[in-house]
Amino acid sequence: MLSRRAQSLVAESTFNEMWEIMKERWKKHDSPDGFVNLGVAENNLMRAELEEYLVAHVRMAGSNATYDDGPIGSIRLRAALAAFLSLHLKTARPLEAGQIVVTNGVSSALEHVAWALADQGDVFLLGRPYYGEATLGLRPHVRTVAVTFGATDPFSLAAIECYEDALVRAQACGLVVRGLLLCSPHNPLGRCYSREVLCALVALCAKHRIHLVSDEIYGLSVWRKPSFTSVLSLPLDGVIDPALVHVVWGISKDFCANGWRLGCLVSPANRGLRAALATVAIYSYPSSITDHVVAQMLEDNTFTTNYLRKNCERLAAAYTRMADLLQQRDIPFATGAHAGLFVWADLGKAYRRRNPDHIDMDESAVAHTIREALYRHKVYLAWGGNFDSEAPSMFRISFAHPIEYVEEGIMRIDRALQSKACLVDLI
Ligand SMILES: Cc1ncc(COP(=O)(O)O)c(C=O)c1O
Repeated sequence: MLSRRAQSLVAESTFNEMWEIMKERWKKHDSPDGFVNLGVAENNLMRAELEEYLVAHVRMAGSNATYDDGPIGSIRLRAALAAFLSLHLKTARPLEAGQIVVTNGVSSALEHVAWALADQGDVFLLGRPYYGEATLGLRPHVRTVAVTFGATDPFSLAAIECYEDALVRAQACGLVVRGLLLCSPHNPLGRCYSREVLCALVALCAKHRIHLVSDEIYGLSVWRKPSFTSVLSLPLDGVIDPALVHVVWGISKDFCANGWRLGCLVSPANRGLRAALATVAIYSYPSSITDHVVAQMLEDNTFTTNYLRKNCERLAAAYTRMADLLQQRDIPFATGAHAGLFVWADLGKAYRRRNPDHIDMDESAVAHTIREALYRHKVYLAWGGNFDSEAPSMFRISFAHPIEYVEEGIMRIDRALQSKACLVDLI
């Protein structure tokens, strides 16, 4: 017998399908019938460089097999993170080790933040489409108030009104709004918020005294202009209580190291939050081996600067190739992405173009038809529903893979879109 809360998750977890697919990976010669996975947010472009660096430069001597400095990361790692993030996020003030709590991935940092800043049933605002609902909801039971933008560009100043409307409406329904979770650069849209818009969001949070949590996990994967502005680089004095502003970052995306499991919360002015996290940090204790390796890597300024630059060059080239392939196959996508690992493609439109007899099919039915067809053609993508998108038949396609892999994936997507799948197939 499981607890009711565990039972309620078993059937519905959005991760179920994803982990299943990852068991059956496509390899051109060894596993030609496997899944091509362009759905998971992994960057495969720098694997060789990362491994080479590990082998040639990282010293295991001095690594610690004890509990060392405790569950929030070693002092050495937190000092390395403070220096690294001060430089790369161009923080308004140099960060200090004591302002950082290290966790085994950004997922844990976000879950901790939700748990510590909101009580069960309280809400965070998230602009659609969004990432992170599960992290807030699954165990902390913090709810999401989805901000809908309609025809308004979610990265524009006009979008601030949409956030405020959602906040006021939630409060009118008796909900306690505790914060706004921003993803910048944005997953899945691949765009950054301008300084101007970030300042306006900070002012909104100040006006309503809610927390601003900025998930900057793709912050150093900005491969085209306009450049990235971290919330930590903004002048906050006199604008907002700085204890309301927090950033999460980790190595999964910018260092192509999802499996190393290392993230952090940076909360420069909120001692209480850091103290609260320390009480539960035993559950997000980073491995001392990862701690030791990452500290050395981040201390190596020459390596990190060159690595990050090369990663961005490769991402830019991979994006261009993906955009070309999509254009060749007449698959529309949102232009303007300049950061992160994804294109946001309108497979609904592509499907309707290929199946004019389905032109009037309802948007959700189209999305489900496409998902089913993709599954049959063994290509995995994240779809609009994963992000509560206002347009469910938008799909997120990851381009941070070797060209051969991407080509195979796009060919399968095209075939799936041609196929005459219909809802009957789903039953
Ligand atoms: C926006 C965003 N935040 C957090 C995470 C989780 O990252 P981690 O691997 O550090 O747990 C992801 C992973 O896809 C992400 O896209």
